[in-house]
Amino acid sequence: MFPPRNYSASCFLLSLLLLSTFTLSLSQSHSAAKKKRMREKVRQMFYHAYDNYMTHAFPHDELKPLTKSFTDSLSELGNLKLEHLPRDYSGSALTLIESLSSLVIMGNNTEFERAVLWLSENLTFDVDARINLFECNIRVLGGLVSAHLLASDPSKKLFQGAYNNQLLVLAEDLGKRFLPAFNTPTGLPYAWINLKYGVMENETTETSTSGCGSLILEMGALSKLTGDPRYESAALRALRKLWSMQSSLKLFGTTLDVATGQWIEYSSGIGAGVDSFYEYLLKAHILFGKEDFWRMFHSSYIAVQKYFRHGPWYHEADMRTGRATYWQLTSLQAFWPGLQVLMGDIFAANSSHREFFHVWKRFGVLPERYLLDHQMLHPTEKYYPLRPELAESTFYLYQATKDPWYIEVGESIVNSLNLYTKVEGGFASVKDVTTMQLEDHQHSFFLAETCKYLYLLFDDSFMLGSNYIFTTEGHPLPVLNTWHEELPEAYIPTNWTIMKRQAAANRVSAMSLQECPAMTLNSGQHIESCCHISDARSDHRCLTDEDCGVDATTCRRRSCSMAGYCGLWIFI
Ligand SMILES: *[C@@H]1O[C@H](CO)[C@@H](O)[C@H](O)[C@H]1NC(C)=O
Ligand SMILES: *[C@@H]1O[C@H](CO)[C@@H](O)[C@H](O)[C@H]1NC(C)=O
Ligand SMILES: *[C@@H]1O[C@H](CO)[C@@H](O)[C@H](O)[C@H]1NC(C)=O
Ligand SMILES: *[C@@H]1O[C@H](CO)[C@@H](O)[C@H](O)[C@H]1NC(C)=O
Ligand SMILES: *[C@@H]1O[C@H](CO)[C@@H](O)[C@H](O)[C@H]1NC(C)=O
Repeated sequence: MFPPRNYSASCFLLSLLLLSTFTLSLSQSHSAAKKKRMREKVRQMFYHAYDNYMTHAFPHDELKPLTKSFTDSLSELGNLKLEHLPRDYSGSALTLIESLSSLVIMGNNTEFERAVLWLSENLTFDVDARINLFECNIRVLGGLVSAHLLASDPSKKLFQGAYNNQLLVLAEDLGKRFLPAFNTPTGLPYAWINLKYGVMENETTETSTSGCGSLILEMGALSKLTGDPRYESAALRALRKLWSMQSSLKLFGTTLDVATGQWIEYSSGIGAGVDSFYEYLLKAHILFGKEDFWRMFHSSYIAVQKYFRHGPWYHEADMRTGRATYWQLTSLQAFWPGLQVLMGDIFAANSSHREFFHVWKRFGVLPERYLLDHQMLHPTEKYYPLRPELAESTFYLYQATKDPWYIEVGESIVNSLNLYTKVEGGFASVKDVTTMQLEDHQHSFFLAETCKYLYLLFDDSFMLGSNYIFTTEGHPLPVLNTWHEELPEAYIPTNWTIMKRQAAANRVSAMSLQECPAMTLNSGQHIESCCHISDARSDHRCLTDEDCGVDATTCRRRSCSMAGYCGLWIFI
């Protein structure tokens, strides 16, 4: 028998198919092996930082890795002039609190339980220490609330189901101590509060946009958990007041006065003093489901693209005129691509992220401030305090695209950190990126964020089966249906089959839920949506072009299609 005429052709096709499946699985197992190796490397980094803290600094706040000593830095955070430092304060185990959720993510349940027991018996907030409300909220309240949610999640199997809400008791005690800060004529909170005595006499009334606008996740969650609405109301009132202070260009300043509600610094960007304000608008929408938050985020996102963006970079501008003020890249801005991933703007996120990574490669780490107009480092802000933002964005972009290039980026970040910042006593901040001279400080966010995002980049099994958002300090909060506002009756479909299918779709992880709708068509055309969250839900579609804003890559206006989706054709 002779083979059919087309034998050779089909055989060729078959072998091609086999070959490609083979190379595919080979490269998959290669990358799986690399991810496993990198995960172990990050785990070792975390424990090197953690064990040194526990040995040389605990229960003080942070580790000094060069001298193997400690600093009680909670009252120094944000306190640039180191004013009103306490005389009788010996730390709040800040780094331990910041490590709780990382311990769970890395699967160390016994150490987590040991830490919770220590805190429940020994931690007190009845201390004569003046602290920064913003810093204490994101690090301490956020750390406690997130760890409480993990401890009481039955699927995590912590405390063999016998957890007694000890962390929630601590969080509520701290939350109560925050409330006097909001007692101002405007409802905008003081930046500083004494944990024992409340607002000091003659306390400064100056605060930042982030200071007033990034409290809602932690305080909102505290209200949901305790049933006491005061925390959420205080944070919401401050956010609404801040919102009412936007300029006609829908821009915000950086610093303001809480007594008068007037702006002090009119220039702002997406970095220091403002960053987490934008972040919390979008994340509050995801966590609490309120439409208001989405509308606020969307309108400010468009304003940011319009007035701050220059190609892949973001400069600062005057909120009144929109005119560019400072042409500077700052290390904190590197979080922005991560936020853009949640928003669905993968294309723009990728291009900004690449630029930040170029700078990282050039210096070995990210310098705090780089002058874009002079193409040089800022004369004094040449430091790199182990910040997480680039790792964070890399993690988000990998989740959304699964492009193995981001794994390479993560590997490069891990290698630099080990090469330049690892010392016998922990990980030290870089004082000057031109000399790589070190500074005697291991910030708690290195454990809460830098190590955590790198670990999750290589192993995201923690997120399978649950939706989480991460606070600005990297503490995970589960997205729970019960925390979402109830949908008005009009949205409840009469066909329950569809309803059930939608409920099932909602159980995929938050990251995959937020995946980018951007796609390249066969024709090579690239289409992308500015309102990904809108696309994901039928009640979120656009009505007019105005809802779609400006495309982040081309600066062209997007339009709302007949079918009610935002879109823009980009030729690449
Ligand atoms: C948990 O952390 C402690 C303290 O670093 C360590 O001794 C222990 O080996 C860790 N356990 C696991 C399972 O990683
Ligand atoms: C509380 O701290 C004391 C002193 O360090 C220690 O002996 C005790 O074991 C701690 N409590 C717990 C539950 O770890
Ligand atoms: C508050 O400021 C006023 C005016 O500057 C001053 O007289 C007073 O002593 C200050 N009070 C405190 C407690 O510092
Ligand atoms: C990111 O940008 C690079 C270079 O422009 C491109 O090669 C890559 O495909 C992009 N990745 C994604 C996920 O858009
Ligand atoms: C509900 O929708 C599904 C899928 O569209 C359809 O198969 C089913 O017949 C519908 N059921 C009713 C009661 O309309």
